Amino acid sequence: MFTNSPLTEAVLGGAEAGELATAPLPDTYRAAFLRREDQEIFRGEPDKDVRRTLRVGEVPMPELAPDEVVVAVMAAAVNYNTVWSATFEPLPSFQFLKHVARGGGWDTRHDQDFHVIGSDASGVVVRVGAAVRHWKVGDKVVVTPGAIDEQEPAAQQDGLLAERTLAWGFETNYGAFGDYTVVKGTQLIRKPRHLSWEEAACNALCLGTAYRMLISQHGARIKMGDVVLIWGATGGLGAYAVQLVQRAGGIPVGVVGSARKAALLEKMGCRHIINRQEIGFADSADSAEESNEMDRWRALGAAIRKQVGEDPHVVFEHVGKETFGASVFVARRGGSIVTCGSSTGYAHHYDNRHLWMRVKRIIGSHGANYQESVEANRLLELGLVVPTLSRVYPFAQVADATRSVQRNEHEGKVGVLCMAPEEGLGIEDPLLREQIGEDRLRLFRDHVS
Ligand SMILES: NC(=O)c1ccc[n+]([C@@H]2O[C@H](COP(=O)([O-])OP(=O)(O)OC[C@H]3O[C@@H](n4cnc5c(N)ncnc54)[C@H](OP(=O)(O)O)[C@@H]3O)[C@@H](O)[C@H]2O)c1
Repeated sequence: MFTNSPLTEAVLGGAEAGELATAPLPDTYRAAFLRREDQEIFRGEPDKDVRRTLRVGEVPMPELAPDEVVVAVMAAAVNYNTVWSATFEPLPSFQFLKHVARGGGWDTRHDQDFHVIGSDASGVVVRVGAAVRHWKVGDKVVVTPGAIDEQEPAAQQDGLLAERTLAWGFETNYGAFGDYTVVKGTQLIRKPRHLSWEEAACNALCLGTAYRMLISQHGARIKMGDVVLIWGATGGLGAYAVQLVQRAGGIPVGVVGSARKAALLEKMGCRHIINRQEIGFADSADSAEESNEMDRWRALGAAIRKQVGEDPHVVFEHVGKETFGASVFVARRGGSIVTCGSSTGYAHHYDNRHLWMRVKRIIGSHGANYQESVEANRLLELGLVVPTLSRVYPFAQVADATRSVQRNEHEGKVGVLCMAPEEGLGIEDPLLREQIGEDRLRLFRDHVS
């Protein structure tokens, strides 16, 4: 650890709220960040290796706004947006920070020559702004990524409708990868008591997103018996989607890219598994042009019908260009394609006849509003959904952790220890843990090891 401040020592020593509140905030803290001067580093390079841009060092502690809290981060997790940020794709994140700073006042703090990234964390509240009502120093929390402007009228209907809904640690600074982070009070949710710091840190972004896409009134609203096709079914989003469909009484059909991932999916209890490599959905970004895409779409539809006997009510999309046409094609008459991303390219191609003539719907979804995040977290607290943490890296290796996600070598979620000196700390309810079962809670880690 770089900074050994009295506050850091108090947090690590499990100090009471009074001691945490009086220990001075350090002026700087250890963090993983991008540098403005690296923005052009990958120009013309085919492999945008995130290990070249993600640095570890000290950054200044920002001043605290009245609606914010400082959280001592015990653990964090890598998201695909970490890859976007560290490759400066689709545009350098410093442009987001500049945009935020145009709000003036407190917002100007975000526009720095460094960008501390990361959008999933667990930790302990160590400072509370004067306007924060529902949280106090000492609370053990998980941070949700949605930094929503709750003063915008539209946010009262749905936080995602507010113009200034920003992804913390992606579109804002002072993200998860540090010993501290500064977030809005309305980003906090209770840490599930049966989970370790790293298990608690890995869920909010992907589980919340999958919850909104599938369960919430703003998404596909799946019901009992629905067949749901899930791309990347052991990935960050997909592995939560599988669990949500199972718990909702639906029938998940999981698509994966290797036999190893198929084996993990089987362990999750998913009966219908398609290895995309076997039906022409290779990794190449040009595969759509190289092979007859209609053949691939038909092959996917046939594989689903062979296994399940019917077409999907819902397709869970985030792969984008490589798969979207197939997703629109295979959804059943009246079905939905719910999408939140485009890893393989934003400009999608699909045959619109399949959409309109068979009265299908495309639903755009982004993150989760505060209530959806709390509801998704409750499923974790009840043990209905379990974390999908597969590997945990020490802080110094945050770039390696991100690289594994960039290269699609990971399964589920990849964690990073921040202040937590080792794995397995922070469990407050071992009895509940026992009831839920170590085998379920460790399924992804045991598969990897
Ligand atoms: N808008 C939002 O709120 C939001 C939230 C979370 C994520 N996202 C976006 O959603 C995307 C996925 O995120 P994630 O966290 O799930 O990432 P992830 O952990 O990398 O998982 C993505 C999965 O996609 C599959 N995949 C990769 N290349 C593919 C291809 N060419 N064809 C078919 N499948 C392919 C991989 O599974 P196999 O290799 O096994 O097929 C991989 O496990 C990213 O673009 C991310 O930015 C958006």
